[in-house]
Amino acid sequence: MSFVLSLFAIAATLGSFAAADPACQNTLAIYNPNIRSTCINATWFVLPVTTSSVQALVPYPLLLPPYSDQTLFPHGFPPTAHPVLLSSGYQNDIRMANLQIPSLKQASIYIPYTDRLKDGKTAFNYPLLNYIGGTDGGSSQSDISFLQAIVPTLVGTAEGTNLLIAQITPGNDAYAALTSSPTELSTSVKQIVLPNPVSGPAVEPEVFDLDFITARSSSSLYTPHTFHALINQPEILTNGACQRNTYYFNETFSAPVLRSGNATVYGPLAGAAPSQLAGVYTKAGGYSASGQMVGYNAEACDVAAASADPKAYQ
Ligand SMILES: *[C@@H]1O[C@H](CO)[C@@H](O)[C@H](O)[C@H]1NC(C)=O
Ligand SMILES: *[C@@H]1O[C@H](CO)[C@@H](O)[C@H](O)[C@H]1NC(C)=O
Ligand SMILES: *[C@@H]1O[C@H](CO)[C@@H](O)[C@H](O)[C@H]1NC(C)=O
Repeated sequence: MSFVLSLFAIAATLGSFAAADPACQNTLAIYNPNIRSTCINATWFVLPVTTSSVQALVPYPLLLPPYSDQTLFPHGFPPTAHPVLLSSGYQNDIRMANLQIPSLKQASIYIPYTDRLKDGKTAFNYPLLNYIGGTDGGSSQSDISFLQAIVPTLVGTAEGTNLLIAQITPGNDAYAALTSSPTELSTSVKQIVLPNPVSGPAVEPEVFDLDFITARSSSSLYTPHTFHALINQPEILTNGACQRNTYYFNETFSAPVLRSGNATVYGPLAGAAPSQLAGVYTKAGGYSASGQMVGYNAEACDVAAASADPKAYQ
């Protein structure tokens, strides 16, 4: 089953959807009718994790990222660390041909600067964990029962992409403001582990939380270019191919904002992320924006890299 059909089948089980949000418009579907496109309102964080710990999670060598490039790392980067890219957001108006999903939640942990071709220079994203969730939270008991029936046949078979199901909070927005302190924003991701007849209801181990505020531009660890350059590295699929998921942040409603905050990653003792990433990362650097995403079909990895649009990396 193709990735898109899997996505649509999973989405159909996740219960009621919020209506497509008119603010985050899919403006590229009209130019890309036969491939997947959407508007993604998301927050990305870069975490510095000890390189040997990251390498233990990735079945390809890691590249040495260009830490001395001040357009990417204006304040440098710990030389013994590798960037890990967290994202959590809201996909609005997902389209391919005549299919449309009004909205979905998504979250992921990716490892950029992975040397998929082993050429010592071409950067790819290795997807460590990839989650989708319903925009109503997708975790009511009826949703869980549906998922229990359908997920084993879909997840892992979605054309080279391992998709897991999560409850991503807030359900109907990209992130939420604390009522006690409206400038403090947050989002959290909990993996839904399907119940079996013995264990009863689904358990929901935490994956990560992001708690953040708007960064002062003078002290921001990164620039918008940092995030564009990391997010746009082609994704490594499980089937030997790669995929370009190209993001553009040039619409009037893209509203890019640099963030500063705390990311808490829950390892296997308390949650669902690998132990190598577990911890509280304070004063981490992030980015919130609404991007136009075009997801191309799977390609040979060298072709995906050579076809990447340099404008998207800017
Ligand atoms: C993105 O999400 C934030 C938080 O929910 C919201 O304030 C903002 O209006 C959204 N932007 C768009 C273009 O939908
Ligand atoms: C991050 O954690 C520190 C230390 O616990 C706390 O003082 C700060 O308010 C937190 N920041 C956010 C945005 O939650
Ligand atoms: C954004 O950039 C893409 C790629 O260069 C281009 O196709 C699109 O027209 C641009 N959108 C706007 C609103 O400038």
